[in-house]
Formats: sequence, structure tokens, C-alpha cells
Amino acid sequence: MTTAWTRAKGAVAGLVLGLAAVAGAGGLPKLPADYAFPQGDGSPGKVTFSHATHVDAKAPACIACHPARWSMLKPGQAVGFEAVKHEAMEKGQACGACHGKQAFGFDSCDLCHK
Ligand code: HEC
Ligand code: HEC
Ligand code: HEC
Repeated sequence: MTTAWTRAKGAVAGLVLGLAAVAGAGGLPKLPADYAFPQGDGSPGKVTFSHATHVDAKAPACIACHPARWSMLKPGQAVGFEAVKHEAMEKGQACGACHGKQAFGFDSCDLCHK
């Protein structure tokens, strides 16, 4: 019989499973796979974002990017933008929060566009 209680238990079990999928062995969060952004008009090549190169496994500062700048629920989704554009990045948003500041800037296209 499906009661409100068994439905609630199902929801809790789903939530716990969801969290278990994020937490990897040893309690460190399991990093998402590399993500290739869809290419906008005139994009000179595919840009792939890699958590592996952006997260220090010993001090995973997920909050540098989540949830304020990037959705953890929808792959590739920059908060506040439908698609990632240079116009926003040049103003310090999306990847431009760091690139052009403490990380390499936008002059060498092939550092990002492959
Ligand atoms: C340097 C910024 C940055 C840091 C730090 C970062 N992320 Fe992300 N994250 C992104 C970007 C950019 C995306 C969008 C691309 C993508 O979907 O992989 C994303 C997407 C995600 C997604 C949703 C998409 C997917 O592929 O599943 C999850 C889940 C996620 N990150 C988890 C984490 C966790 C857990 C940490 C900490 C261990 C973390 N992130 C640290 C930038 C970051
Ligand atoms: C929280 C700061 C931060 C954010 C946000 C960030 N990066 Fe980076 N990224 C770095 C740093 C630091 C490096 C190391 C290279 C350096 O020091 O110049 C790096 C390296 C890279 C590299 C070279 C290593 C590799 O993975 O091939 C690429 C490409 C790259 N970033 C793309 C992106 C893209 C695309 C985005 C947005 C989706 C992004 N980054 C967002 C800080 C950041
Ligand atoms: C730090 C990483 C990075 C560098 C360096 C970079 N781009 Fe991009 N660029 C992106 C990301 C992320 C996107 C969004 C995905 C896409 O459209 O391919 C993008 C999108 C674009 C787009 C389509 C959307 C828009 O904003 O018009 C063009 C055109 C573009 N880049 C040109 C360039 C050129 C030309 C250079 C070199 C002078 C360059 N990019 C360097 C990350 C970068």
C-alpha cells in the first residue's frame, strides 16, 4: 500500500542515494566528468571544462564556483546566463571570474578552444 509515509521514505532514500553518488571513496566528492560546452556562433573550437584540473583534491573548494556561479544540477549551466559568452567573461563573470585575473586570460584562444 502506498501511503504518504512510504512515499516520504522513498523520497528520503532517493536523496541519500543521490548524495552517495556525489560522495566518492574516502569521503571526497566524486568529481563530475569533463564537460564539453555547446559551441556558440563563431566559436573557434570546443571548450572542455575539467573539474580535475580546477579542484585541489586535498582541499576541494567547491564553493569557489557553486552554487553562486554554476549550477550543480544542470551540466554546463552558468547562473544568470543561457549560454557562456565572452561579453560576460570579459566583465568577470562565468569563467572570467578567474581567467584574465589569477588564471590565464582570453588572448590565446587555443588554451581553451580545441
Ligand atoms: C573552478 C570552478 C569550479 C569548482 C571549484 C567546482 N566546479 Fe563543479 N562545475 C563547474 C562548472 C564550470 C560546471 C559546468 C560544467 C559541467 O557541467 O561540468 C560545473 C558543474 C558541476 C556539476 C553539474 C554538472 C555535472 O557535470 O554533473 C556538479 C555536480 C559539480 N559541478 C560538482 C562539483 C563539486 C562536488 C565540486 C567540489 C569538489 C565542484 N563542482 C567544484 C565549476 C566548478
Ligand atoms: C575559480 C577560478 C576559476 C574558474 C571559475 C575557472 N578557471 Fe579555468 N583555471 C583556473 C586556474 C587557476 C587554472 C590553472 C592555470 C593557470 O594558473 O593559469 C585554470 C586552468 C584552466 C585550463 C587549462 C587546464 C585544462 O583543464 O586544460 C582550462 C582549459 C580552463 N581553465 C578553462 C576554464 C573554463 C572554460 C572555465 C569556465 C567554464 C574556467 N576555466 C573557470 C581557475 C579557474
Ligand atoms: C579561458 C577560456 C577561453 C579562452 C582563452 C577563449 N575562450 Fe572563447 N569561449 C570560451 C567558452 C567557455 C565559450 C562558450 C562555449 C563555446 O561557445 O564554444 C567561448 C565561446 C566563444 C565564442 C562564441 C560565443 C561568444 O562569446 O561570441 C567565440 C566567438 C569565442 N569564444 C572566441 C574566442 C577567441 C577568438 C579567443 C581567443 C582570442 C577565445 N575565444 C579564447 C572560453 C574561452
